[in-house]
Amino acid sequence: MFRDEKGYRPTQQIFTEVPPKYDILNRIMTLNLDEGWRRKTAARVLEKNPSKVLDLCCGTADLTMHLARNASASTELYGLDFSHTMLERAKEKVSVFGEGRVKLIQGDAGNMPFESNFFDAVGISFGFRNLTFENPDAGLHISEVLRVLKPGGRFVIVETSQPSNAFIRWGYHQYMKYFTAPVGGLISGNKPAYDYLAYSGNHYWSVPELSEVLKKAGFSRTQGIPLFMGVSAIMIAEK
Ligand SMILES: C[S@@+](CC[C@H](N)C(=O)[O-])C[C@H]1O[C@@H](n2cnc3c(N)ncnc32)[C@H](O)[C@@H]1O
Repeated sequence: MFRDEKGYRPTQQIFTEVPPKYDILNRIMTLNLDEGWRRKTAARVLEKNPSKVLDLCCGTADLTMHLARNASASTELYGLDFSHTMLERAKEKVSVFGEGRVKLIQGDAGNMPFESNFFDAVGISFGFRNLTFENPDAGLHISEVLRVLKPGGRFVIVETSQPSNAFIRWGYHQYMKYFTAPVGGLISGNKPAYDYLAYSGNHYWSVPELSEVLKKAGFSRTQGIPLFMGVSAIMIAEK
């Protein structure tokens, strides 16, 4: 199990000490692919013209921005994250859409401040690994998503994954270990956050494993879409 240099599991602290360079680091680490992945994810979230949408673990609102650009005016948009520093940056960004267009809420994914059967769609970009990887609250986090979704509602995850080709998988793991972790740690000044990213990314679920986890938790009709040779994937699951 991952421990930082002080022996702690990754906590809210990591995400509160958000590096001011968080967004630019995402672009560097993914060779600028991450925004295209979020755009595709937002399109899947909005596919059935939902009336209420949540960006779970919205961070600095990168997925929310794509949702706000592409959703119909009648779609209500929400973002939830437990890090107030992430949310401060998110607020600045979504302000371009006007006051109240996106409701940003500080809260915990394990205890969301929403009624049951509230959302038509929940999207999450690069937050699901944090909610589930070596996380004792993984089951709670998934059942909360099920609770807040309407029956028939969709959960759309974009997350790091495992390439099915063994050689590409090996190369990806080297990249995470010897590029993402040291370079991310150096530029951000937040070494534990990027050590954790590399470690959790290298040990996270493949598309079939993630699909199995979601089905066991009660989701149906999962569909996995590999991105860039499978280093990341979009997973769509229905309640
Ligand atoms: C890697 S960032 C992803 C942020 C954003 N979605 C993106 O695409 O860049 C993970 C986010 O999940 C949030 N997070 C992690 N665990 C959480 C929890 N239990 N409840 C709410 N937010 C959480 C962190 O604060 C952080 O902003």
